[in-house]
Amino acid sequence: MPAQPNFARLRQFIGELASLIDTPATEASLLSQARPLLAELVRQDDWLPDDFAQPHPERYQQFLLHADARQRFSVVSFVWGPGQRTPVHDHRVWGLIGMLRGAEDSQGFAFDPAGRLRPQGAPVRLQPGDVEAVSPQLGDIHQVSNAFNDRTSISIHVYGANIGAVTRAVYGPEGQEKPFISGYSNTHLPNIWDLSREPLA
Ligand SMILES: [Fe+2]
Repeated sequence: MPAQPNFARLRQFIGELASLIDTPATEASLLSQARPLLAELVRQDDWLPDDFAQPHPERYQQFLLHADARQRFSVVSFVWGPGQRTPVHDHRVWGLIGMLRGAEDSQGFAFDPAGRLRPQGAPVRLQPGDVEAVSPQLGDIHQVSNAFNDRTSISIHVYGANIGAVTRAVYGPEGQEKPFISGYSNTHLPNIWDLSREPLA
């Protein structure tokens, strides 16, 4: 990571995503157009400041990087310490997950006809540069784990809301739903707007 993170990448992503969201579209259309933007953002690992890439020894971290002024979307870095994982949880809004560093496994879940929550399909492994989508329309319940027991992994998530403030759910082993508002791990945002610090174009 250079001394000055390449914030231009994150600014470009945020600007292009805001333009997309300004244009009415179905969720499927929005996701298909947003996916390559996130893929471009995570294609190079030179822009995430170190403060937003730090694991915690006991729990995964979710650092808010940017929230849209109208809370139409948020961008979050998820930092997984060795072996860390989420509970089984849902989102209630669309989301895109782009792998920046390391790797993670996402196991989908769905309710069977008897109302039991069961793993659905094989886990999906995300490698750097990969992008995956979640949403109530696509399958919204999953559990995410760091694929490594000996190093940190980081993924960049974009959601169709201020995700840390959304009332959603985590699920117990029998599928019991428990209300969940994730919040964020950080109290300050990265200052990506001080253009005086950047080389003149
Ligand atoms: Fe998730």
